[in-house]
Amino acid sequence: MNELDALVESARAGFAQATTPADLENAKARFLGKSGRITELMKGMAGLSVDEKKSRGAAINLTKQAIETALGERRQALLDAELQAQLQAEALDVTLPGRQRGQGGLHPVSLTLERIEEIFGSMGFDVAQGPEIESDWFNFTALNTPEDHPARSMHDTFYVEGGTEAAPNLLRTHTSPMQIRYAVQHVKKYRARIDAGQGMPEIRVIAPGRTYRVDSDATHSPMFHQCEGLWIGENVSFKDLKVVFTDFCRTFFESDDLVLRFRPSFFPFTEPSAEIDIQFQTGPLAGRWLEVAGSGEVHPNVVRNMGLDPEHYIGFAFGMGPDRLTMLRYGVNDLRLFFDGDIRFLSQFR
Ligand code: DAH
Repeated sequence: MNELDALVESARAGFAQATTPADLENAKARFLGKSGRITELMKGMAGLSVDEKKSRGAAINLTKQAIETALGERRQALLDAELQAQLQAEALDVTLPGRQRGQGGLHPVSLTLERIEEIFGSMGFDVAQGPEIESDWFNFTALNTPEDHPARSMHDTFYVEGGTEAAPNLLRTHTSPMQIRYAVQHVKKYRARIDAGQGMPEIRVIAPGRTYRVDSDATHSPMFHQCEGLWIGENVSFKDLKVVFTDFCRTFFESDDLVLRFRPSFFPFTEPSAEIDIQFQTGPLAGRWLEVAGSGEVHPNVVRNMGLDPEHYIGFAFGMGPDRLTMLRYGVNDLRLFFDGDIRFLSQFR
């Protein structure tokens, strides 16, 4: 290998050792710089003849070009490596699944409440909402519930400070106070007509909402839901209650052969009173009697507290448990699951 070829080789090796652009510039200076090897070779031609200069100069030029080519290749290789490193560092795996927004849904009990409102709505029932902090009067007294009734015990009800109609003092234990609240408003609106003996449009309302009792186990929660129903007119009988409630249950459970039983019971605000049980003819619960509501013909004292004459106005009321209806509809066996907020449970109802 002649001296010039060896120089190209050593330049190539020097460039190969450079791993950064700065290293490479240093290596370049050693060969192509002002006082680099090529310049040295040029200077070394001073004493040569014209012909010798020609051939020697051409050879040195080729050498210089070869070194420049080697330099260009190395420069490009370093740029490529740099780009690769950058691409690696900023790598995006476009095959990874995207981050999805969680898909929400209504709570199973809300689904039931919507369903109840829809079914009773189709039967001409209004939907009313009322306060969860209630007064003694609406929750008990107006509903013909005497002072010494056990439900008034501190152990059964959540009491808070206060205790007047203006400053309510307890968390309502049922939605029944809405019977009075709604009816009083209704009667007020039609007072003049009623007094003139022209009667009033019938009261037909359901009142769903949260209710509270000091109770907690697999089938009782301190907060639970109820839905009150009330239909007052001049001739609304127990028979109407049976028709309406049977229709409701069969529609709600989508089961035409569902059987209802009105079991005699006692509530201070109804007379007669009945507990309503249902029985499925097919499915996992077939044959068992399942309690779903309390009901009855509204007690004359309660009709009076609505501002109406019980000799003229009569009707039925019921109070059912949407939580229980939800358990029966979906086959849930522990009420507390509804209120734990466990997304694994809740997402099954989407
Ligand atoms: N309020 C009653 C309870 O919570 C349920 C009830 C029974 C409501 C009879 C009514 C009714 O409207 O007529 O146990």
